[in-house]
Amino acid sequence: MTETLIAPSLLAADFGNLQRDIEMVNESKADWFHIDIMDGVFVPNISYGMPVLKAISKHAKKTIDVHLMIVDPDRYIQEFADLGADILTVHYEACTHLHRSLQAIKAAGMKAGVALNPHTSVDLLQDVLQDIDLVLIMSVNPGFGGQSFIENTYHKIHRLKQLIAQKNANTIIEIDGGVTDENAMALAKAGADVLVAGSFVFKSDNQPETIKNLRKIANS
Ligand code: DX5
Ligand code: ZN
Repeated sequence: MTETLIAPSLLAADFGNLQRDIEMVNESKADWFHIDIMDGVFVPNISYGMPVLKAISKHAKKTIDVHLMIVDPDRYIQEFADLGADILTVHYEACTHLHRSLQAIKAAGMKAGVALNPHTSVDLLQDVLQDIDLVLIMSVNPGFGGQSFIENTYHKIHRLKQLIAQKNANTIIEIDGGVTDENAMALAKAGADVLVAGSFVFKSDNQPETIKNLRKIANS
């Protein structure tokens, strides 16, 4: 991918004004909507589920990138497709038969992503890399927004880039957690194709400007 994309995470949006925040992303320089689904089992937090995604889909005019932090995600693949997900990312740690899950996601008409917790090595994806459209490297422990970035992420990006080249795969790399204007450039230079940003965008005073700057920094 030539440009590094920005995917604001609605987890940090104002849920009382969700439509307003979705319109802000629609009008901004952001590329994707990042939607975090948490079940309180795979991660120690519960975010939102299907009815909220349905409402988001109704208003969102950009790619809907759904990050499932749930156990046994196979149960809901078709439902997420029906609700408008363009990309569906499951956690490596939550899938016993990852290859089967990836095929099911694609059969449902979506791009297939795999997310890795900070402790999970990118090397574990070697034998399935050609089937993965996107690898999401968690740069914080999943479950909450507003945590600080884990520096080992750079090492994982470099190693994943090597594996993608070796396997001649078309996989893109997304980084999720603790992204700010201070690390966006280094992440993009290391090889990140998509940067998720939650608190950094939604806690700022001028959200469209923050998105615009982040995108500019990542592509400078
Ligand atoms: C964390 C989620 C992230 C989160 C990022 O489990 O996967 O997408 O919203 O939030 P920030 O950018 O605040 O770290
Ligand atoms: Zn996420």
